[in-house]
Amino acid sequence: MSIQFKLTDEQLQLVSLAREFTRDRIIPVAAEHDRAESFPWPIIQEAAGLGLLNAGIPEAYGGLGLGMLDECLIGEELAYGCMGIYSILMASELGLTPIELAGSEEQKLRWLAPLVMQPKIAAFALSESGNGSDAAAMSTRAVRDGQDWIINGSKMWITNGGLADLTVVFATTEPGGRAKSSVALVVEKDAPGFSTHKIHGKLGQRAAQTAELTFENVRVPAANLLGEVGDGFKIAMRTLDRTRVPVAAGSVGIIRRALDESVRYAKERQAFGRLIGDFQGVSFKLADMKMRLETSRLITWQAAWLVDEGQPHSVPSAIAKAFASQAAFDSAAEAIQVFGGAGYVNDVPVEKLLRDAKLNMIYEGTNEIQRVVIARALLKN
Ligand code: CAA
Repeated sequence: MSIQFKLTDEQLQLVSLAREFTRDRIIPVAAEHDRAESFPWPIIQEAAGLGLLNAGIPEAYGGLGLGMLDECLIGEELAYGCMGIYSILMASELGLTPIELAGSEEQKLRWLAPLVMQPKIAAFALSESGNGSDAAAMSTRAVRDGQDWIINGSKMWITNGGLADLTVVFATTEPGGRAKSSVALVVEKDAPGFSTHKIHGKLGQRAAQTAELTFENVRVPAANLLGEVGDGFKIAMRTLDRTRVPVAAGSVGIIRRALDESVRYAKERQAFGRLIGDFQGVSFKLADMKMRLETSRLITWQAAWLVDEGQPHSVPSAIAKAFASQAAFDSAAEAIQVFGGAGYVNDVPVEKLLRDAKLNMIYEGTNEIQRVVIARALLKN
Protein backbone atom coordinates (compact mmCIF):
# COMPACT_ATOMS: atom_id res chain seq x y z
CA MET A 1 0.00 0.00 0.00
CA SER A 2 1.50 3.30 -1.04
CA ILE A 3 0.33 6.89 -1.11
CA GLN A 4 1.27 9.18 -3.97
CA PHE A 5 0.81 12.93 -4.01
CA LYS A 6 1.60 13.23 -7.69
CA LEU A 7 -0.68 13.89 -10.64
CA THR A 8 -0.32 11.92 -13.86
CA ASP A 9 0.80 13.60 -17.10
CA GLU A 10 -2.80 13.43 -18.35
CA GLN A 11 -4.03 15.12 -15.21
CA LEU A 12 -1.41 17.85 -15.51
CA GLN A 13 -2.54 18.45 -19.11
CA LEU A 14 -6.13 18.67 -17.91
CA VAL A 15 -5.10 21.29 -15.33
CA SER A 16 -3.28 23.31 -18.02
CA LEU A 17 -6.28 23.16 -20.34
CA ALA A 18 -8.71 24.27 -17.64
CA ARG A 19 -6.30 26.94 -16.38
CA GLU A 20 -5.87 28.50 -19.82
CA PHE A 21 -9.60 28.38 -20.45
CA THR A 22 -10.19 30.12 -17.13
CA ARG A 23 -7.58 32.79 -17.82
CA ASP A 24 -8.67 33.51 -21.39
CA ARG A 25 -12.41 32.97 -21.34
CA ILE A 26 -13.78 33.06 -17.80
CA ILE A 27 -11.83 35.73 -15.90
CA PRO A 28 -12.39 38.47 -18.53
CA VAL A 29 -16.20 38.13 -18.36
CA ALA A 30 -16.87 36.87 -14.82
CA ALA A 31 -17.60 40.28 -13.28
CA GLU A 32 -20.00 41.25 -16.05
CA HIS A 33 -22.03 38.00 -15.82
CA ASP A 34 -22.12 38.49 -12.07
CA ARG A 35 -23.36 42.07 -12.40
CA ALA A 36 -25.95 41.32 -15.08
CA GLU A 37 -27.09 37.91 -13.73
CA SER A 38 -26.56 36.72 -17.32
CA PHE A 39 -26.05 33.13 -18.28
CA PRO A 40 -22.71 32.56 -20.06
CA TRP A 41 -23.88 30.32 -22.92
CA PRO A 42 -20.81 30.96 -25.13
CA ILE A 43 -18.54 29.81 -22.29
CA ILE A 44 -20.62 26.72 -21.63
CA GLN A 45 -20.52 25.86 -25.33
CA GLU A 46 -16.76 26.30 -25.47
CA ALA A 47 -16.33 24.27 -22.30
CA ALA A 48 -18.33 21.51 -23.96
CA GLY A 49 -16.07 21.69 -27.03
CA LEU A 50 -13.01 21.24 -24.80
CA GLY A 51 -14.55 18.28 -23.00
CA LEU A 52 -15.00 20.15 -19.71
CA LEU A 53 -18.81 19.89 -19.61
CA ASN A 54 -20.43 16.66 -18.39
CA ALA A 55 -16.92 15.22 -18.37
CA GLY A 56 -17.85 12.41 -15.98
CA ILE A 57 -20.16 10.67 -18.46
CA PRO A 58 -18.66 7.20 -18.97
CA GLU A 59 -16.97 6.31 -22.25
CA ALA A 60 -19.62 3.64 -22.86
CA TYR A 61 -22.10 6.49 -23.47
CA GLY A 62 -19.72 8.60 -25.53
CA GLY A 63 -18.28 10.65 -22.67
CA LEU A 64 -14.71 11.13 -21.52
CA GLY A 65 -15.36 9.09 -18.40
CA LEU A 66 -13.24 11.34 -16.21
CA GLY A 67 -12.91 10.30 -12.59
CA MET A 68 -13.85 12.40 -9.58
CA LEU A 69 -10.25 13.49 -8.99
CA ASP A 70 -10.01 14.67 -12.61
CA GLU A 71 -13.24 16.57 -12.19
CA CYS A 72 -11.93 18.20 -9.03
CA LEU A 73 -8.81 19.34 -10.84
CA ILE A 74 -10.99 21.03 -13.47
CA GLY A 75 -13.26 22.41 -10.76
CA GLU A 76 -10.48 24.12 -8.84
CA GLU A 77 -9.31 25.85 -12.02
CA LEU A 78 -12.73 27.01 -13.22
CA ALA A 79 -13.82 28.21 -9.78
CA TYR A 80 -10.59 30.22 -9.58
CA GLY A 81 -12.10 32.27 -12.40
CA CYS A 82 -15.75 32.22 -11.32
CA MET A 83 -17.53 29.92 -8.88
CA GLY A 84 -20.87 30.85 -10.45
CA ILE A 85 -19.81 29.69 -13.91
CA TYR A 86 -18.27 26.54 -12.47
CA SER A 87 -21.54 25.87 -10.61
CA ILE A 88 -23.34 25.54 -13.94
CA LEU A 89 -21.05 22.67 -14.94
CA MET A 90 -21.09 21.21 -11.44
CA ALA A 91 -24.89 21.27 -11.24
CA SER A 92 -25.11 19.53 -14.59
CA GLU A 93 -22.95 16.67 -13.25
CA LEU A 94 -25.20 16.69 -10.18
CA GLY A 95 -28.21 16.22 -12.45
CA LEU A 96 -26.55 13.38 -14.36
CA THR A 97 -25.26 11.49 -11.37
CA PRO A 98 -28.61 9.89 -10.36
CA ILE A 99 -28.85 8.49 -13.90
CA GLU A 100 -25.28 7.19 -13.72
CA LEU A 101 -25.86 5.63 -10.31
CA ALA A 102 -29.36 4.23 -10.71
CA GLY A 103 -30.30 4.29 -14.39
CA SER A 104 -30.74 1.15 -16.48
CA GLU A 105 -28.51 0.67 -19.55
CA GLU A 106 -31.38 1.84 -21.70
CA GLN A 107 -31.89 4.98 -19.60
CA LYS A 108 -28.19 5.81 -19.63
CA LEU A 109 -28.02 5.46 -23.41
CA ARG A 110 -31.16 7.53 -23.79
CA TRP A 111 -30.16 10.47 -21.60
CA LEU A 112 -26.39 10.52 -21.17
CA ALA A 113 -25.27 10.08 -24.78
CA PRO A 114 -27.14 13.19 -26.12
CA LEU A 115 -25.50 15.32 -23.42
CA VAL A 116 -22.12 14.51 -24.89
CA MET A 117 -23.06 15.21 -28.49
CA GLN A 118 -24.41 18.71 -27.85
CA PRO A 119 -23.71 21.30 -25.16
CA LYS A 120 -26.71 20.44 -23.01
CA ILE A 121 -27.03 20.65 -19.25
CA ALA A 122 -28.92 18.77 -16.57
CA ALA A 123 -30.42 19.70 -13.19
CA PHE A 124 -31.22 18.03 -9.88
CA ALA A 125 -34.52 18.94 -8.21
CA LEU A 126 -34.73 17.90 -4.57
CA SER A 127 -35.26 21.03 -2.43
CA GLU A 128 -38.68 22.56 -1.95
CA SER A 129 -39.58 25.91 -0.44
CA GLY A 130 -40.83 24.15 2.71
CA ASN A 131 -38.29 21.27 2.75
CA GLY A 132 -34.61 22.01 2.24
CA SER A 133 -32.43 20.23 4.79
CA ASP A 134 -35.21 17.74 5.61
CA ALA A 135 -35.23 16.43 2.08
CA ALA A 136 -37.28 13.29 2.87
CA ALA A 137 -40.22 15.53 3.83
CA MET A 138 -40.71 16.37 0.13
CA SER A 139 -44.30 17.09 -0.85
CA THR A 140 -44.09 17.10 -4.65
CA ARG A 141 -46.42 14.25 -5.53
CA ALA A 142 -46.03 11.52 -8.16
CA VAL A 143 -49.07 9.36 -8.90
CA ARG A 144 -48.97 6.33 -11.16
CA ASP A 145 -51.55 6.44 -13.96
CA GLY A 146 -51.39 3.43 -16.30
CA GLN A 147 -48.07 3.56 -18.13
CA ASP A 148 -47.28 7.08 -16.85
CA TRP A 149 -46.42 9.05 -13.75
CA ILE A 150 -48.20 12.33 -13.11
CA ILE A 151 -46.23 14.93 -11.12
CA ASN A 152 -47.70 17.86 -9.18
CA GLY A 153 -45.89 20.28 -6.92
CA SER A 154 -42.90 22.58 -6.98
CA LYS A 155 -39.15 22.63 -6.37
CA MET A 156 -37.04 25.53 -5.18
CA TRP A 157 -33.42 26.78 -5.53
CA ILE A 158 -32.70 24.57 -8.52
CA THR A 159 -29.39 25.40 -10.21
CA ASN A 160 -29.73 25.27 -14.03
CA GLY A 161 -33.53 25.23 -13.55
CA GLY A 162 -35.22 26.55 -16.67
CA LEU A 163 -32.20 25.85 -18.85
CA ALA A 164 -31.57 22.16 -18.29
CA ASP A 165 -32.60 19.73 -21.00
CA LEU A 166 -33.36 17.12 -18.39
CA THR A 167 -34.10 17.36 -14.71
CA VAL A 168 -34.11 14.55 -12.18
CA VAL A 169 -37.10 15.29 -9.95
CA PHE A 170 -37.55 13.70 -6.53
CA ALA A 171 -41.15 13.21 -5.47
CA THR A 172 -43.31 11.17 -3.13
CA THR A 173 -46.03 8.70 -3.99
CA GLU A 174 -47.62 9.19 -0.55
CA PRO A 175 -47.60 12.48 1.36
CA GLY A 176 -45.74 11.95 4.63
CA GLY A 177 -44.27 8.68 3.37
CA ARG A 178 -40.71 10.08 3.53
CA ALA A 179 -37.88 8.00 2.05
CA LYS A 180 -39.95 4.83 1.66
CA SER A 181 -42.39 6.36 -0.83
CA SER A 182 -39.86 8.50 -2.70
CA VAL A 183 -39.24 8.29 -6.44
CA ALA A 184 -36.70 9.79 -8.84
CA LEU A 185 -38.18 10.72 -12.21
CA VAL A 186 -36.50 12.22 -15.25
CA VAL A 187 -38.45 15.16 -16.66
CA GLU A 188 -37.50 16.59 -20.03
CA LYS A 189 -37.48 20.32 -20.69
CA ASP A 190 -40.52 20.48 -22.94
CA ALA A 191 -42.85 18.29 -20.83
CA PRO A 192 -46.34 19.87 -20.86
CA GLY A 193 -47.22 21.38 -17.47
CA PHE A 194 -43.56 21.89 -16.52
CA SER A 195 -42.71 25.56 -16.00
CA THR A 196 -39.84 27.45 -14.42
CA HIS A 197 -39.32 30.82 -12.81
CA LYS A 198 -35.85 32.37 -12.55
CA ILE A 199 -34.90 33.62 -9.08
CA HIS A 200 -33.32 37.10 -9.12
CA GLY A 201 -31.30 38.98 -6.55
CA LYS A 202 -28.90 36.25 -5.37
CA LEU A 203 -25.98 37.40 -3.21
CA GLY A 204 -23.43 35.58 -5.35
CA GLN A 205 -22.92 32.99 -8.08
CA ARG A 206 -25.12 35.20 -10.20
CA ALA A 207 -23.94 33.82 -13.56
CA ALA A 208 -25.56 30.52 -12.66
CA GLN A 209 -29.31 30.39 -13.06
CA THR A 210 -31.35 29.32 -10.04
CA ALA A 211 -35.06 28.69 -10.49
CA GLU A 212 -38.29 27.54 -8.99
CA LEU A 213 -39.83 24.63 -10.91
CA THR A 214 -43.56 24.04 -11.07
CA PHE A 215 -45.24 20.79 -12.08
CA GLU A 216 -48.90 20.89 -13.03
CA ASN A 217 -50.08 17.44 -14.05
CA VAL A 218 -46.75 16.75 -15.73
CA ARG A 219 -47.03 13.34 -17.34
CA VAL A 220 -43.86 11.28 -17.84
CA PRO A 221 -43.63 7.68 -19.04
CA ALA A 222 -43.05 4.93 -16.47
CA ALA A 223 -39.73 4.36 -18.26
CA ASN A 224 -38.53 7.67 -16.74
CA LEU A 225 -38.45 6.20 -13.22
CA LEU A 226 -34.91 5.61 -11.92
CA GLY A 227 -34.73 2.46 -9.83
CA GLU A 228 -37.90 1.45 -7.99
CA VAL A 229 -40.56 3.18 -5.93
CA GLY A 230 -38.91 3.86 -2.56
CA ASP A 231 -35.43 4.37 -4.06
CA GLY A 232 -35.70 8.10 -4.78
CA PHE A 233 -34.35 9.48 -1.49
CA LYS A 234 -31.46 7.01 -1.37
CA ILE A 235 -30.53 7.86 -4.95
CA ALA A 236 -30.49 11.54 -3.92
CA MET A 237 -28.28 10.79 -0.89
CA ARG A 238 -25.86 8.60 -2.88
CA THR A 239 -25.65 11.34 -5.49
CA LEU A 240 -24.88 14.05 -2.93
CA ASP A 241 -22.27 11.86 -1.27
CA ARG A 242 -20.36 12.12 -4.54
CA THR A 243 -21.19 15.60 -5.73
CA ARG A 244 -20.29 17.35 -2.49
CA VAL A 245 -16.67 16.66 -3.44
CA PRO A 246 -16.74 19.01 -6.46
CA VAL A 247 -18.23 21.71 -4.21
CA ALA A 248 -15.13 21.31 -2.07
CA ALA A 249 -12.94 21.53 -5.20
CA GLY A 250 -14.62 24.79 -6.22
CA SER A 251 -13.98 26.09 -2.72
CA VAL A 252 -10.29 25.27 -3.14
CA GLY A 253 -10.30 27.38 -6.30
CA ILE A 254 -11.79 30.30 -4.37
CA ILE A 255 -9.13 30.01 -1.65
CA ARG A 256 -6.34 29.95 -4.23
CA ARG A 257 -7.73 33.04 -5.93
CA ALA A 258 -8.11 34.87 -2.61
CA LEU A 259 -4.51 34.01 -1.78
CA ASP A 260 -3.09 35.01 -5.18
CA GLU A 261 -4.93 38.34 -5.20
CA SER A 262 -3.82 39.05 -1.63
CA VAL A 263 -0.16 38.16 -2.24
CA ARG A 264 -0.11 40.33 -5.34
CA TYR A 265 -1.54 43.30 -3.43
CA ALA A 266 0.67 42.75 -0.40
CA LYS A 267 3.70 43.00 -2.68
CA GLU A 268 2.65 46.26 -4.35
CA ARG A 269 0.72 48.28 -1.78
CA GLN A 270 2.69 50.54 0.55
CA ALA A 271 1.73 51.87 3.96
CA PHE A 272 3.86 53.64 6.56
CA GLY A 273 6.71 53.59 4.04
CA ARG A 274 6.75 49.79 3.67
CA LEU A 275 5.05 47.14 1.59
CA ILE A 276 2.00 45.92 3.52
CA GLY A 277 3.26 42.33 3.17
CA ASP A 278 6.10 43.32 5.49
CA PHE A 279 3.62 43.76 8.33
CA GLN A 280 3.06 40.61 10.33
CA GLY A 281 -0.65 41.44 10.59
CA VAL A 282 -0.95 41.06 6.81
CA SER A 283 1.60 38.31 6.24
CA PHE A 284 -0.07 36.03 8.80
CA LYS A 285 -3.33 36.35 6.90
CA LEU A 286 -1.51 35.12 3.80
CA ALA A 287 -0.04 32.23 5.79
CA ASP A 288 -3.50 31.32 7.10
CA MET A 289 -4.89 31.29 3.56
CA LYS A 290 -2.04 29.06 2.44
CA MET A 291 -2.77 26.63 5.29
CA ARG A 292 -6.46 26.59 4.36
CA LEU A 293 -5.57 26.02 0.70
CA GLU A 294 -3.30 23.06 1.33
CA THR A 295 -5.54 21.36 3.91
CA SER A 296 -8.69 21.87 1.86
CA ARG A 297 -7.10 20.55 -1.31
CA LEU A 298 -5.70 17.51 0.47
CA ILE A 299 -9.04 16.43 1.97
CA THR A 300 -10.82 17.16 -1.31
CA TRP A 301 -8.43 14.97 -3.28
CA GLN A 302 -8.68 12.26 -0.65
CA ALA A 303 -12.48 12.23 -0.85
CA ALA A 304 -12.28 12.22 -4.66
CA TRP A 305 -9.82 9.34 -4.58
CA LEU A 306 -12.20 7.32 -2.38
CA VAL A 307 -15.03 7.94 -4.87
CA ASP A 308 -12.79 6.79 -7.73
CA GLU A 309 -11.69 3.73 -5.78
CA GLY A 310 -15.32 2.79 -5.07
CA GLN A 311 -14.71 3.00 -1.34
CA PRO A 312 -17.09 4.50 1.25
CA HIS A 313 -16.91 8.26 0.91
CA SER A 314 -19.98 9.75 2.58
CA VAL A 315 -18.11 11.14 5.60
CA PRO A 316 -14.91 12.25 3.79
CA SER A 317 -17.08 14.02 1.23
CA ALA A 318 -19.05 15.80 3.98
CA ILE A 319 -15.79 16.79 5.72
CA ALA A 320 -14.26 18.13 2.51
CA LYS A 321 -17.38 20.09 1.56
CA ALA A 322 -17.91 21.66 4.98
CA PHE A 323 -14.26 22.39 5.73
CA ALA A 324 -13.27 23.72 2.32
CA SER A 325 -16.33 25.93 1.86
CA GLN A 326 -15.84 27.49 5.30
CA ALA A 327 -12.15 27.93 4.51
CA ALA A 328 -13.08 29.61 1.21
CA PHE A 329 -15.44 32.02 2.97
CA ASP A 330 -12.84 32.83 5.64
CA SER A 331 -10.11 33.31 3.05
CA ALA A 332 -12.26 35.62 0.95
CA ALA A 333 -13.12 37.66 4.06
CA GLU A 334 -9.42 37.93 4.94
CA ALA A 335 -8.58 38.90 1.36
CA ILE A 336 -11.00 41.82 1.64
CA GLN A 337 -9.28 42.81 4.89
CA VAL A 338 -5.88 42.76 3.16
CA PHE A 339 -7.23 45.06 0.43
CA GLY A 340 -8.99 47.33 2.95
CA GLY A 341 -11.49 49.73 1.36
CA ALA A 342 -10.33 48.71 -2.13
CA GLY A 343 -11.51 45.17 -1.42
CA TYR A 344 -15.01 46.25 -0.51
CA VAL A 345 -15.97 47.39 -4.01
CA ASN A 346 -16.21 45.37 -7.18
CA ASP A 347 -13.16 46.84 -8.96
CA VAL A 348 -11.18 43.88 -7.63
CA PRO A 349 -12.55 40.33 -7.45
CA VAL A 350 -12.25 39.65 -3.72
CA GLU A 351 -15.71 40.86 -2.68
CA LYS A 352 -17.17 38.52 -5.33
CA LEU A 353 -15.18 35.63 -3.87
CA LEU A 354 -16.88 36.20 -0.52
CA ARG A 355 -20.36 36.40 -2.04
CA ASP A 356 -19.75 33.29 -4.14
CA ALA A 357 -18.18 31.28 -1.30
CA LYS A 358 -21.24 31.73 0.92
CA LEU A 359 -23.36 29.53 -1.33
CA ASN A 360 -20.84 26.68 -1.10
CA MET A 361 -21.69 26.58 2.61
CA ILE A 362 -25.40 26.18 1.78
CA TYR A 363 -26.10 24.20 -1.39
CA GLU A 364 -25.73 20.43 -1.74
CA GLY A 365 -26.53 20.27 1.99
CA THR A 366 -25.75 23.07 4.43
CA ASN A 367 -22.55 22.73 6.42
CA GLU A 368 -24.76 21.95 9.43
CA ILE A 369 -26.17 18.96 7.50
CA GLN A 370 -22.59 17.86 6.73
CA ARG A 371 -22.01 17.81 10.49
CA VAL A 372 -25.16 15.70 10.90
CA VAL A 373 -23.74 13.19 8.40
CA ILE A 374 -20.34 13.13 10.17
CA ALA A 375 -21.77 12.97 13.70
CA ARG A 376 -24.28 10.22 12.87
CA ALA A 377 -21.48 8.07 11.49
CA LEU A 378 -19.43 8.67 14.66
CA LEU A 379 -22.27 7.70 16.96
CA LYS A 380 -23.78 4.88 14.87
CA ASN A 381 -21.97 1.95 16.43
N1 CAA B 1 -26.55 6.74 1.09
C1 CAA B 1 -27.47 5.75 0.93
N2 CAA B 1 -28.59 5.67 1.69
C2 CAA B 1 -28.76 6.62 2.63
C3 CAA B 1 -27.85 7.67 2.84
C4 CAA B 1 -26.69 7.71 2.02
N3 CAA B 1 -25.77 8.67 2.16
N4 CAA B 1 -28.29 8.47 3.83
C5 CAA B 1 -29.46 7.94 4.25
N5 CAA B 1 -29.74 6.82 3.52
C6 CAA B 1 -30.88 5.91 3.68
C7 CAA B 1 -30.95 5.38 5.11
O1 CAA B 1 -30.14 4.24 5.27
C8 CAA B 1 -32.42 5.08 5.26
O2 CAA B 1 -32.69 3.86 4.61
P1 CAA B 1 -33.60 2.72 5.33
O3 CAA B 1 -34.94 3.37 5.54
O4 CAA B 1 -33.62 1.62 4.34
O5 CAA B 1 -32.92 2.40 6.61
C9 CAA B 1 -33.08 6.20 4.43
O6 CAA B 1 -32.09 6.66 3.49
C10 CAA B 1 -33.53 7.38 5.27
O7 CAA B 1 -32.39 7.80 5.98
P2 CAA B 1 -32.46 8.75 7.24
O8 CAA B 1 -33.63 8.36 8.10
O9 CAA B 1 -31.10 8.80 7.85
O10 CAA B 1 -32.78 10.16 6.58
P3 CAA B 1 -33.12 11.54 7.27
O11 CAA B 1 -34.47 11.99 6.87
O12 CAA B 1 -32.80 11.50 8.73
O13 CAA B 1 -32.11 12.58 6.49
C11 CAA B 1 -30.10 13.78 6.03
C12 CAA B 1 -30.76 12.45 6.49
C13 CAA B 1 -28.62 13.48 5.98
C14 CAA B 1 -30.34 14.91 6.99
C15 CAA B 1 -30.65 14.17 4.63
O14 CAA B 1 -31.99 14.60 4.69
C16 CAA B 1 -29.83 15.23 3.92
O15 CAA B 1 -28.75 14.98 3.40
N6 CAA B 1 -30.35 16.49 3.84
C17 CAA B 1 -29.74 17.52 3.08
C18 CAA B 1 -30.33 17.60 1.70
C19 CAA B 1 -29.42 18.26 0.72
O16 CAA B 1 -28.22 18.05 0.70
N7 CAA B 1 -30.00 19.07 -0.17
C20 CAA B 1 -29.27 19.69 -1.22
C21 CAA B 1 -30.13 19.82 -2.42
S1 CAA B 1 -29.25 19.79 -3.94
C22 CAA B 1 -28.63 21.33 -4.19
O17 CAA B 1 -28.45 22.08 -3.30
C23 CAA B 1 -28.18 21.64 -5.56
C24 CAA B 1 -28.85 22.74 -6.23
O18 CAA B 1 -29.13 22.67 -7.40
C25 CAA B 1 -29.05 24.00 -5.49
